[in-house]
Amino acid sequence: MTRDPIQVTHLSERPARSAVGEQAIHESAALHVTGHALYTDDLGVRLAGLLHAWPLQAPHAHARLTRLDVTPALAVPGVVRVLTAADVPGENDSGVKHDEPLFPTEVMFHGQAVCWVLAESTEAARLGAQAILAEYEPLPALVTLREAIAAESFQGNQPTLRRGDVTLGFEQATHIFEGEFEFGGQEHFYLETNAALAQVDENGQVFIQSSTQHPTETQEIAAHVLGVPSHLVTVQCLRMGGGFGGKEMQPHGYAAVAALGAVLTGRPVRVRLNRTQDLTMTGKRHPFHASWKVGFDAEGKLTALQATLTSDGGWSLDLSEPVLARALCHIDNAYYIPHVEVLGRVAKTNKTSQTAFRGFGGPQGMLVIEDILGRCAPLLGLDAHELRQRNFYQPGEATPYGQEVRHAERLARVWDELLASSEFAARQQDIASFNAAHPHARRGLAITPVKFGISFNFTSYNQAGALVHVYKDGSVLINHGGTEMGQGLHTKMIQVAATALGVPTSCVRLAPTRTDKVPNTSATAASSGADLNGGAIKDACEQIRARLAAVAAGALLPLARQKVGALGVHPDDVRFEHGRVFAVGHPGLALDFRQVVHDAYHLRTPLWAAGFYRTPGLHWDREAMQGTPFKYFSYGAGVTEVEVDGFTGAYKLRRVDLLHDVGESLNPLLDLGQIEGGFVQGAGWLTLEDLRWDESQGPGRGRVTTASASTYKLPSFSEMPEVFRVSLLQGAAESGVVYGSKAVGEPPLMLALSVREALRQACAAFGDGGREQPLASPATPEAVYWALTAAREAGAAAPVPSVAGAD
Ligand code: MTE
Ligand code: MOS
Repeated sequence: MTRDPIQVTHLSERPARSAVGEQAIHESAALHVTGHALYTDDLGVRLAGLLHAWPLQAPHAHARLTRLDVTPALAVPGVVRVLTAADVPGENDSGVKHDEPLFPTEVMFHGQAVCWVLAESTEAARLGAQAILAEYEPLPALVTLREAIAAESFQGNQPTLRRGDVTLGFEQATHIFEGEFEFGGQEHFYLETNAALAQVDENGQVFIQSSTQHPTETQEIAAHVLGVPSHLVTVQCLRMGGGFGGKEMQPHGYAAVAALGAVLTGRPVRVRLNRTQDLTMTGKRHPFHASWKVGFDAEGKLTALQATLTSDGGWSLDLSEPVLARALCHIDNAYYIPHVEVLGRVAKTNKTSQTAFRGFGGPQGMLVIEDILGRCAPLLGLDAHELRQRNFYQPGEATPYGQEVRHAERLARVWDELLASSEFAARQQDIASFNAAHPHARRGLAITPVKFGISFNFTSYNQAGALVHVYKDGSVLINHGGTEMGQGLHTKMIQVAATALGVPTSCVRLAPTRTDKVPNTSATAASSGADLNGGAIKDACEQIRARLAAVAAGALLPLARQKVGALGVHPDDVRFEHGRVFAVGHPGLALDFRQVVHDAYHLRTPLWAAGFYRTPGLHWDREAMQGTPFKYFSYGAGVTEVEVDGFTGAYKLRRVDLLHDVGESLNPLLDLGQIEGGFVQGAGWLTLEDLRWDESQGPGRGRVTTASASTYKLPSFSEMPEVFRVSLLQGAAESGVVYGSKAVGEPPLMLALSVREALRQACAAFGDGGREQPLASPATPEAVYWALTAAREAGAAAPVPSVAGAD
C-alpha cells in the first residue's frame, strides 16, 4: 500500500456536496421496526441439525467442584453431549488474562457455568443440566467491595496518577475537606442477550456468528480454546441488539462453547443466554469506592486532590485494569487540579466479572469529582455552578497525565451557550420562589460539564482496516472492522464511502463484519468506531478514486484518451461528486461514475483496495500513567431541573437541556439519538438502576437479587424529561478526524451527572442551605428521601454553621 501524506492531513476536509452531514436514517431502521432485522440467534433456525446449549450454573458464590457426573444427563431424551473441561483440546480459558477458566473446578461466583449440555431442543438441554450430579464444597466468599478492601483482596496492577506534590497543594489550601463515597454499578440490559452460533465445514474450518463488539478477540479466544490457529476460525457479527461495552469481552466464552460443541459433534450449535442467565452470568459496570481529600484556595480554586479509587472487579480481571485507568484519567473531568495523587485498585470479589460499560470508567472517575464539588460548594459558600466554572481548564493547561487540553476554550463556550439557552439564571429565581411557596416539594437545577478523552488508552488499539470493492457496474461494497450495535456506525461508514468516492449512498452496500475480510481488528469501543473505521474506509476509497481519476484524466494511455472520452486534465484536478466525474471548474462536462469504472476495468485497473488508519500522535506509559493517550477531547454540558416530593422522595425530570460537541457531525440524526440515549442511560445508572447482591450469610449469598426487569428498574418513557432539548455545538469541526467529526457514543452518558446534582440541590432545599448535602448513588427515590430527610432534620436542629474564609 502506498501512503500519500496529503491524504492524512486532509482527513478532516469535507467536500462541499457530501453524503456525510446528511440526516440519513439508520441503515437498518426499516428492518428494526418491521422485525425483519436478523440477530445472531435468528440465524440458527435456518440450519439443519442445530443443537441447543444450556449451562449448569453453580449455586455458590465460591466453592470447589468436588464431583461432576454427567452420565444422568446423557440419559435424558434429546441430550446429545455434555461439554466439560475434559473436552477442551486447547486452553481451558475464555479470557485474555488467562484467569477465566471456561469450565472451572473452583466456582468463583454464584451462577457460574461449570459445564454445558447440548441437546436437540433447549428444553431437553435444560432438563439435561438439571439431571447432572454436581457436588460442591463451599468456600468463604467476598461479596461486597468493603469486605474485599478489608481482606485486601485485589487483582491486577495498582496504578497511581500523580502530578505535583499534594502535600504542597494542601499547604496552599484555605479549605480542606475529606470524604468517602461508594456507588453502584450498572447492568447493560441490551435487548439482545449474549448469543453465538457455530458451524464447522468439511475442512474443519469453524465459522462463528457472535453478538460481539470484538470479533477478532472472539476469534482468538475460540481458537485458543480449540487449540487451532486463528486462520481456522472466522467470526462474523451481523449486528447486535445493543452492546454498551457488555459485549466487548464477555461474548468470547459463549462463542468458544458453541465452537467446541460444533467441532465435537459436527453439528451447528447455538448458545443464547436467556435474560436470567445473562443477568447472573455476565459482567456489569464496575461499582467503585472512593476515599478523598481535597483542597481549595480562598477563591474556591482546587489546589490538591488526593484519592483512592477501588473498583469492584468481580471474580476475574477482563477489562478492569483499562477501566480503572480511564477512571483515573477522568477524575479531573473539566477541572484543572495542580496537585494530584490518585491511587487505583481493583478489588477481587465473588461476583460476575465486571467489565466495560459506556464510558469505560470515565463516568466513575467523573462522578467522584462532581460529587466532591457538589458536596463542597455550600461549604465554600459558592453556588455549585460557580465553583465548577471557576475550576475549568484554561487553554494551555494540561491534565494530570500530562496531555494538553486541546480546545479547552470550548468548555467555557459550551457552558456559556447552555447557560443562556437554558435560561439558567431566570429559572434559578423561579425555583427559589417555587421552593419558598411549596412546603412539601422542592425543585433543583444544576449544570455539569463533560470532558471525555477519545482514543483507546492502549495505543495499539487505535488502528483499523477496511476493504472496499467497486464492481464493474459501479456499485460499491464496503467492509470494515467495526461492529454495529445500534449506534449507527454502518450508516456513517456508508456515508463516508459515498463521500470519498463521490457517489450517492444508494450505490454503497455494507457487508457484515467478518474476521476473514478485515483481520486483526480492535473492539468497536471507546467511541472510536467512526473515527478509526471511517479513516480506513476513506483511505481505501481514495486509493480507488486516485486510480479512477487517472483513468478519467486520460493519463494512462493515449488509447485510453480516445476510448474513455478523457477530460484532458491532470488526475489531481478530477472531481467526483454524486456519481459524476468532471474536471475541476467544469461540472457541466461530466462523465458518469459507472462509465469511468467500466473503462477502468477494461484498462485492467484494480477496483478494490484495503484501507488502513492509525491514529497519529498517541503514546501512553501505563506504569507512569503519563502521556498523550487521547487524540482529542469531547466536550458537553447538561442542565437538569428536577422536582422532588418531600413525602416519598419520588422525583421527576422537569426539563433537560444538553449541548454537546460532536465536531462537524457525520450524521446529525444519529448523533442526536446517541446523545439522547446516552443521557437517559446515564440517568438510569445514577438514579434508578440499583443492582443488589445477596450479602447475607445464608445459602443464597452472592446471588444477584435483581435478576429481572421486575426488580431492576430501567428508565422508560415515564422517566423521560418532560422537556428535552438537545443541541449540537455549532462551528466545531475537528481537524485530524474523518471529515471533521468527533466521536459521540459514550461522552453524552456523563451529561446525566446534572440529574444527580439537580437532585442534590432539591434535597438541600428541604433544609436551610449552607451544609454539605450527601446523596447516595444511585439516587433512587428511597435514597433521595433519606437525603432530604437529613437536610430537613439538620435544618430544624441547628443554625447553619459559618464557614471560615467563605464569602
Ligand atoms: N448505541 C446503541 N444504540 N447501542 C449500543 O450498544 N454502545 C455505546 C455507544 N452507543 C451502544 C451505543 C458504546 S459503549 C460505545 S463504545 C459506542 O457506542 C461504540 O460505537 P462507536 O465507536 O461507533 O461510537
Ligand atoms: Mo464502549 S464501553 O467502549 O464498548
